[in-house]
Amino acid sequence: MEIVYRNLKPEDYDSLIELWEISGLPLRRKGRDSRENMIEYMKREPDFLIGAFDENKLVGVVIATSDLRKGWINRLAVHPKYRRHGIASELLKISEERLIKSGVEIISCLIMDDNQPSICFFQSEGYSSMREVLYFRKVLHPEV
Ligand SMILES: CC(C)(COP(=O)(O)OP(=O)(O)OC[C@H]1O[C@@H](n2cnc3c(N)ncnc32)[C@H](O)[C@@H]1OP(=O)(O)O)[C@@H](O)C(=O)NCCC(=O)NCCS
Repeated sequence: MEIVYRNLKPEDYDSLIELWEISGLPLRRKGRDSRENMIEYMKREPDFLIGAFDENKLVGVVIATSDLRKGWINRLAVHPKYRRHGIASELLKISEERLIKSGVEIISCLIMDDNQPSICFFQSEGYSSMREVLYFRKVLHPEV
């Protein structure tokens, strides 16, 4: 199996939604995950939306974001049939390199506390959890 890693393009949008769906990630198609939002982010930060492809089929994805000092790993997903082959690990490595190049000094990720595979994954990649931190937020609308 030869996996190719490249930046996502607008024409990958439908496969991206399909992949998140099959991977069990929640979708907000009218807001955060809308075609318009995704394509806008691809244009603004082309190096921060990265896909893993097996012969043109999208099998893994990650979105990196940066708030200057801190970088975030978001929406990481690998197709269930392609898991445990190091694809997420490679997507994370590429994201980290690009975030570090952009100047961030901390790389973070928010994970639901019952998402055991992701917890194990990030631990295996050298990330530590901060149990003492509570995540506070103000949600301005349900699709954000
Ligand atoms: C978490 C996820 C992205 C991992 O993808 P993956 O490509 O299978 O991960 P990798 O093959 O790169 O795993 C690297 C290491 O992480 C750890 N790991 C990954 N999945 C694991 C699991 N289910 N259980 C235990 N450890 C796991 C292992 O140490 C693994 O190395 P090994 O296979 O040599 O033992 C994938 O399970 C997934 O898409 N989950 C659903 C989507 C999700 O919840 N995303 C998180 C939102 S941020």
